Amino acid sequence: MEVWTCPGVVRNTLRLPLGAPDLWDRWKRLLAATDLGSDIWVAQVDCRVVGTIVVTYESGLRSHVARVGIEVHDDYQNKGEGRQLVSAAIDHAETQLGKQRIELHVFTDNEPAIGLYKKFSFEIEGVHRSFGFREGQYVDVYSMARVTV
Ligand SMILES: CC(C)(COP(=O)(O)OP(=O)(O)OC[C@H]1O[C@@H](n2cnc3c(N)ncnc32)[C@H](O)[C@@H]1OP(=O)(O)O)[C@@H](O)C(=O)NCCC(=O)NCCS
Repeated sequence: MEVWTCPGVVRNTLRLPLGAPDLWDRWKRLLAATDLGSDIWVAQVDCRVVGTIVVTYESGLRSHVARVGIEVHDDYQNKGEGRQLVSAAIDHAETQLGKQRIELHVFTDNEPAIGLYKKFSFEIEGVHRSFGFREGQYVDVYSMARVTV
């Protein structure tokens, strides 16, 4: 909850500033569903959760696809936590589960995240105009994907 509601995370994701009223319930549902269609990794420092990456697996004719969303607490950014989370998620999705396309959305002005994804060979595929609403304005996102097929 602390990670998902800190200002830098809220500004760069679609999370709500004070947390959605049902955030805790949704988090529990997500955890309960890990064997069905998603996995979550956390980054820990001194027994404190400082980052999360949620990986959701598509089904049917998109069963080769995984989607990711990553958040590192403001106080722990730029210390390599994000790199470790992305690396763990990619390794599991590709090596263990055989996924061949990992995709995500990122705000077009989120340079740290775009830099991180490019480091792992994600490519920008296109722009979704006015995709989200942030601080009174509509904002664009890039679709990015890492495709190994
Ligand atoms: C984006 C985010 C996950 C990166 O995690 P992090 O732990 O801060 O990143 P790391 O320290 O592991 O850095 C990994 C790479 O990211 C890139 N990066 C990090 N900060 C950067 C910056 N300010 N500008 C450009 N690239 C940057 C670099 O490529 C860096 O590699 P390097 O250290 O070898 O140069 C983190 O900043 C975050 O959670 N931000 C708020 C929420 C968010 O934006 N989530 C993503 C939504 S799509």
